[in-house]
Amino acid sequence: MRALHIQLDRSKGPVYKQIASGLRELFQEGVLSRDSLIPSTRHLAEQFGVHRHTVTRALEELVAEGWVESEPGRGFRVVFSPEANVSVPSKLWSDFPQIHGLGPDGVEDYDFPSGKPDLRLFPEEFFRVLRSCLRDIPSPDLLGYSDPSGSSALRLQLREYLSRMRGVARGQVMVTHGSQEAIFLLGQLLARGKDKLIAVESLGYPPAWDALRLSGAELAGVPVDQEGLDVAALERLIEHKKPALLYLTPLHQYPTTVSLSLARRERLLELVCRHEIPVIEDDYDHEFHYYGRPTRPLAGEDKSGLVIYVSTFSKLVYPSARVGFCVVPDRLLEPLCRLKRATTRQNDLLIQETMASWMRQGGLDRHLRRMKKVYHHRLEVMSERLEKIGLSFHLPRGGMSLWVDLGERGADIWARCWERGLRLRPGSFYALDGGLDRNRFVRLGFAGTTPEEIQSGLNILEQAVRVG
Ligand SMILES: Cc1ncc(COP(=O)(O)O)c(C=O)c1O
Repeated sequence: MRALHIQLDRSKGPVYKQIASGLRELFQEGVLSRDSLIPSTRHLAEQFGVHRHTVTRALEELVAEGWVESEPGRGFRVVFSPEANVSVPSKLWSDFPQIHGLGPDGVEDYDFPSGKPDLRLFPEEFFRVLRSCLRDIPSPDLLGYSDPSGSSALRLQLREYLSRMRGVARGQVMVTHGSQEAIFLLGQLLARGKDKLIAVESLGYPPAWDALRLSGAELAGVPVDQEGLDVAALERLIEHKKPALLYLTPLHQYPTTVSLSLARRERLLELVCRHEIPVIEDDYDHEFHYYGRPTRPLAGEDKSGLVIYVSTFSKLVYPSARVGFCVVPDRLLEPLCRLKRATTRQNDLLIQETMASWMRQGGLDRHLRRMKKVYHHRLEVMSERLEKIGLSFHLPRGGMSLWVDLGERGADIWARCWERGLRLRPGSFYALDGGLDRNRFVRLGFAGTTPEEIQSGLNILEQAVRVG
């Protein structure tokens, strides 16, 4: 069987993606023509020096995209032919919105992924509740169109939960597809237009920038320091041009993990109230707070009705549920629901009913108590080891990641880690201007990584620090 020429570079992202992309090129160039059989997965695995699963995953992707078909007992056959492929003038379909997405290098999976929960510890109890919802709720109540604001059972549970656990008691709760959808909808509603400006933290959370940019508004970065958002810098920005919206992560600032100081909170609330600037407060992992009680969200303090609260179950429960929520002033609910109806229509009812039942039975509270202990321990393991290595970092009161300063030689250390197989996301990813001076920092997620995994990953970091 002939060898296929596909260049693989493990530092350039998932290998199965590279294999799929290499095969696509071979189909397009006609090297593997229509009806030919692709070499066996075993053969390809040997040729590329990878596990057979990696090759199978690549081929499954190509089946899903319609390039190849699986022939039971024979392998995979090419069904793509270049001449049958319609060619669209490239100018016509080229002016797409700029999406920051995965970052400049296109890598999907980093080591020490920041802010990922450990789904290996996900409670079986949740699935029991899911099965009983399937069994007990009549199909028409689970499968139909429903209120875009969310199922009334889940909204009720959220209202109770937010008031009891977070001190957010005013406003209307709306269920969204993760916080991402809430941020997108709010950008559309409150800051649409090229002449608009949206203030965001920089360093900050790029996926929110992507969603907000789709409103057409321009983003302006406000710096962050040890006390969180620099409110004086925001004030200067307002004097220059008043933003239509401010987006921030006050409790565990993303990515630096610092909490907005009490003095700054007060000043910020006074400032946005005086200038009537709506605020999106993104409180994405509230309960994972290990030292003292988390500060009450700005939305709980706010009397002006300008602070819109956005949160999610992506960290607390699991991200593919795509259950997020926002708490908005009464007047915003209806226009938001109309926007949602025009886009994603509604959230899945089975997941909403399951979440609601699970919460009602105390499942969420139990799960969070358990995960908080696990994550707290992992935070201690990671911070002790980083101290031993001699790296400086901010010890946060909560969150799921550490923001680590690799020092003056940061960019070199980072590159050495990559050479040794430890793939860390560069700090410039979190800077609105892409500032490379940020590459001395890395955000290391501890929550999704066991103590043993933390130790072995940090062994590599230590070697990279000690060299040179
Ligand atoms: C700052 C911030 N907000 C929100 C989220 C969650 O997004 P979603 O609810 O869309 O999954 C994340 C996840 O990484 C985050 O880091």
